[in-house]
Amino acid sequence: MKQPFFYDVTLRDGNQALKKPWNTQEKEIIFNKLIELGVQGIEVGFSGASDMDFEACSYLANLAPENVVISGLARAVKIDIDKVAQAIKNAPKPRIHTFIAMNPLGLEYVLKKPLKEVKKIAVEAVSYAKSILPIHGEVQFSVEHFGDCKENLDEVIDAVQDIVKAGANVINLPNTVERFRPMVFIEMVKKMREALPENVIVAVHCHNDLGMASATTVESYFAGAMQLECSLNGLGERAGNTNMYEVAVALNNSGVNVPLNMQNIYETAILTSEMADVQIWEKAPIIGHDALAHRSGIHQDGVVKTKHLDKGAYRAFNPELIGRTEAEKLAFTSQSGKTAIFELINATQYQISMQEAVYLAPFAKHKAETIGELSLKELLELYFDKICNVEGPFKLNEFNKIGSDKFNLNFNHNNEEFDVIVKGSGPLDACISALKNVGFALELEHYEQHAIEDLENEKEKSKAMSVLHFNHNGNVLITRAIHTSTAQANVQAVFNGLNLMNRVI
Ligand code: KIV
Ligand code: ZN
Repeated sequence: MKQPFFYDVTLRDGNQALKKPWNTQEKEIIFNKLIELGVQGIEVGFSGASDMDFEACSYLANLAPENVVISGLARAVKIDIDKVAQAIKNAPKPRIHTFIAMNPLGLEYVLKKPLKEVKKIAVEAVSYAKSILPIHGEVQFSVEHFGDCKENLDEVIDAVQDIVKAGANVINLPNTVERFRPMVFIEMVKKMREALPENVIVAVHCHNDLGMASATTVESYFAGAMQLECSLNGLGERAGNTNMYEVAVALNNSGVNVPLNMQNIYETAILTSEMADVQIWEKAPIIGHDALAHRSGIHQDGVVKTKHLDKGAYRAFNPELIGRTEAEKLAFTSQSGKTAIFELINATQYQISMQEAVYLAPFAKHKAETIGELSLKELLELYFDKICNVEGPFKLNEFNKIGSDKFNLNFNHNNEEFDVIVKGSGPLDACISALKNVGFALELEHYEQHAIEDLENEKEKSKAMSVLHFNHNGNVLITRAIHTSTAQANVQAVFNGLNLMNRVI
């Protein structure tokens, strides 16, 4: 299958739909982005529309690299065609793009002419355009409203065959207004493709009135249309034109060699949005701010289990492909679960075991039910509150060193106060012995301590996080605490463990 030819219409169809169309300098910024993106063709404007656009078209044609086709749009009238020819004359690959409608509605109510007459206008326009272009110049003819030509398709095909004979080497089939299902249009594209000589390039130009322009464009490619007319961010008349990024990623995923520098897509999208003053919808496919977020617990589980693979369980494409530096995002809501807690907290300097994440999940869900998605800060607050300071029947009042190897532990169990003095080789050992002496034996299996940077308190540079593993009825119970004193972190972690073991669910 031949490589697709990406033909960008942002500077023409996109620009004509802007609330404030771009001036030459603004167009140049977008033009340069298109060159960096590596598109094969750029329609630089509608030079007949205004002096400003004529100036922009001429300026950009002068900047065009050797390998990029540059076209300007002209109605099928001599004055427009002359203007385009004049504007693009310095482009290394100049193309005049002329058009006229051939759909029954347009013929009857807009042009008020029969197809025979319109064909004559088109043939004359094309042969005139061809005659004033240099030998390497091309003529593209668009059957405006081709998508509405189902009823007179055979006559339209006859007309287009004559238009090709008159000198058009690119036949563009616009779905000027998207009204029907994609397959209706694609079948028409196929029929036109089959009726034209092989060396004629068939293009599609789809508008997105029903939100299916990308699908229609992608499938038209497989039906034989090689030139795919698209725009950056889907800018264009009404609901816009085919979004270039969607087509590029879909073709890439389908195994087509996409001739674009796809890693430039994301930065191009951001710049285009700023330049056009058209925000990117947060759910916009591929480029939307929230388009890589996962909130359901089931999805989060699948995402994490497949994150090492190129094809993720819920990942349509690898964000790196389009130059998005942030990876897929897990966010915690009342619909989320332990996996998000585990991943989000372990991505910070704090840590959490899966067992603790399971314990924390209901608290986090409950909080999210009232306030919505939890920020990382809110999730960590819960973590400090519920994991690093577990509430329950045991309450640590004081733990002090009162001699070289002597310690005093004061705590409450339910309403009873205990005050124990013990000897121990260190605070942790002493605390566990003290508890054992008053009937609360614990089996410590593992102990570790880490330094935690205290981000909130500038004076205190670091804190200690103690992590203890206890044997609890044959299972490992993990508990932890954070404190500026390593001794207090150890003792609080013991009490957190006691409360977890004696938790009334
Ligand atoms: O949508 C359309 O039909 C057009 C043509 C001028 C190509 O933009
Ligand atoms: Zn259009």
